[in-house]
Amino acid sequence: MAPRPESKVADQIAPERSVSAGRKFKIALAGFGTVGRSVAKLLSQNPHGPLILTHIFNRNIERKKVDWIPGHVRWTEQIEDVLASDADILVELMGGLEPAGEWVSQALRAGKSVVTANKLLIADRGPELLRLARQTGRQLQFGASVAGGIPAIIAIQEGLAGDRLYRIAGILNGTCNYILTKMEATGAGFDSALKEAQELGFAEADPTSDVEGYDARAKLVILTQAGLRVNVRSEQIPCAPISPIDAVDFGYARELNCTIRQISIAQKDTKNGLRLLAAVRPTPPLCALCG
Ligand SMILES: NC(=O)c1ccc[n+]([C@@H]2O[C@H](COP(=O)([O-])OP(=O)(O)OC[C@H]3O[C@@H](n4cnc5c(N)ncnc54)[C@H](OP(=O)(O)O)[C@@H]3O)[C@@H](O)[C@H]2O)c1
Repeated sequence: MAPRPESKVADQIAPERSVSAGRKFKIALAGFGTVGRSVAKLLSQNPHGPLILTHIFNRNIERKKVDWIPGHVRWTEQIEDVLASDADILVELMGGLEPAGEWVSQALRAGKSVVTANKLLIADRGPELLRLARQTGRQLQFGASVAGGIPAIIAIQEGLAGDRLYRIAGILNGTCNYILTKMEATGAGFDSALKEAQELGFAEADPTSDVEGYDARAKLVILTQAGLRVNVRSEQIPCAPISPIDAVDFGYARELNCTIRQISIAQKDTKNGLRLLAAVRPTPPLCALCG
């Protein structure tokens, strides 16, 4: 099933306990792109529910307007309209480090909680922003930034809160997984598998972040901080692209009872140090995931 970051964003806006308390929350949305539009649609489906969409912020807002957004929602291209508003929660879906980071900080300082799917921002400034949220008595929720369709972050933070984790390993990038699976199944070369992924909407026009491993690396940073409770920076994690892989490599991998996937691994060693790797390599699946 395709990941649904918008569902995770919507879940995180309204934790069940707050909703059951009968409170209504005013929501300001920053970023009306792929995820932002879907979140707005979910919020607009239940106009009498506990979540009231009040603002939509985006640059050049005129070209973004659609007729299915309720009339009371204010469209704006001035972030100040959002920051100075009485919205309880800012949902940040613009992406990128800045100005998103500055606006998330300002929203927390203005007494708003923040929900974001921005993996780059959380990987880069997560601990600092979480500290700020604690200081201002607000929440910063970022479950949609990693594995948006499954409750990975909340499972680690709440479901496994009493456990000590030492190793996180997995496939964190769907685009690379699609490309490598296609190459393996059909014998296609990297370029044609990438082209097909782009045509089907599984890869972006500029695939650098996925193919080079930067997207998986940002997710690994977040999972490492949440799961292993170690602060690590993206630059500390070696990262290898999948573009040099050729269709013929799958044949060699098969001879070794291996396949080729982009596996992200973070491991805390027993002396409490940290050994980290975000790499692509021919790996027996069981060894990669189970050690
Ligand atoms: N797409 C996914 O499946 C997915 C999954 C998980 C997480 N995420 C994360 O969710 C976030 C949004 O992703 P997306 O795919 O929805 O991106 P997107 O389609 O590019 O949407 C971003 C929106 O924000 C607007 N925006 C960007 N910078 C802005 C700025 N400085 N001022 C005002 N508006 C600005 C963009 O306006 P323009 O139209 O003018 O560019 C666009 O409407 C990212 O952090 C991404 O990593 C996405």
